[in-house]
Amino acid sequence: MESSAVLKGQPIYRRARSVGINPNYWYPVLWADQLKPGDIVSVQVWESSLAVYRNADGTVNALADACPHKGVELHRGEVQGNNLVCPYHGWKFNNEGECVSIPYFPKDQKLPCAQARSYPTQEAYGIVWVFPGEPALADRQPLPQVPEYGQPGWFMVRIPGHFQAHFSICNENTMDVFHGFLHKDLQGWYDPKLLDLKQDEHGVAADYQVSYEGFLSKLLGLGAKGSDSTTRTVSIHYRYPHYATALESVSSLYLMRLPVGPTETKSFSLMFLKLPLPQWLLSGPLARVLEKVILNSIFLKFLHQDVEMMESEQRNYSIDPQRNYVEVNPAIIALQRVIVGQYERLEVPPSSALETAKESSIKPSQEVSNGMLV
Ligand code: FES
Ligand SMILES: [Fe+2]
Repeated sequence: MESSAVLKGQPIYRRARSVGINPNYWYPVLWADQLKPGDIVSVQVWESSLAVYRNADGTVNALADACPHKGVELHRGEVQGNNLVCPYHGWKFNNEGECVSIPYFPKDQKLPCAQARSYPTQEAYGIVWVFPGEPALADRQPLPQVPEYGQPGWFMVRIPGHFQAHFSICNENTMDVFHGFLHKDLQGWYDPKLLDLKQDEHGVAADYQVSYEGFLSKLLGLGAKGSDSTTRTVSIHYRYPHYATALESVSSLYLMRLPVGPTETKSFSLMFLKLPLPQWLLSGPLARVLEKVILNSIFLKFLHQDVEMMESEQRNYSIDPQRNYVEVNPAIIALQRVIVGQYERLEVPPSSALETAKESSIKPSQEVSNGMLV
């Protein structure tokens, strides 16, 4: 990563490809059902390795994945009650990362001051979340709101994503409604128009008009009677570092982003649909089967096409980071500004960074006019 001072004179898209994350947000790391009591999983959050584990009492914790004794990866160890035990010499660490026992020390011998960094964690929406930044800020930073979660009438499909690309490339793909061409064989959508665009330091809100026809239109119950096609408004809201997208009141997509490293990103998405199917199928034991069928037959097909494009974009960026590109969608440029701005805010000295985090005021929005930011 280049420092932002070096990047300042560069076009915004080049800076967006080169920045790191603002760690003072909650990031998704695992589906909660991937972590049973006693399990330890190694996860990467922007090049930091964490050992995420579930205690016997069901609580989830995260420690830096390096033993403070000699650096062995703690995820290779084991959970004992509410402690994590290193596999090498058996040093035992509590949930705060403090060494609380060394098995070969006599009972009265003082323990050394050895502490693994611990990270705030929480579980919500069936996802395990980690706060990699300043721990004191964790309580003030809310998780994304997902009002459809657990509500009757909405059918949820979990969509996992894994991309060999910088998170800015992945986020631009989600904001970019003008790539229906890529999905034409899947009868995705067509004839997009950007209707409205707002941006502040926290995010971007873009409303697009799009048209649907064919299979997707039928699945979502979109077509008017006697017609196979319909035109709707899609609202895509990026609130750093995650997305909330809604197709009027017909479907919603919450896309939670995990930047793994400079060329690797994951996503944990929750798609909510109103399916024209009987309730026994939507909420009974067959619901999870139906979720897998919809995931594999529709959403993963779209996703695979997107993955190819994002990874292709990354490969060319990696080969020649100075190559010039032409972006024509003002929503993408607005998104790049937010991603760069969130990273550059970190260069504020720590004391004033805390003050900045307290501020909740929103700067005047930039409105779209004739498709251009003004
Ligand atoms: S390296 Fe972990 S206990 Fe020795
Ligand atoms: Fe796509």
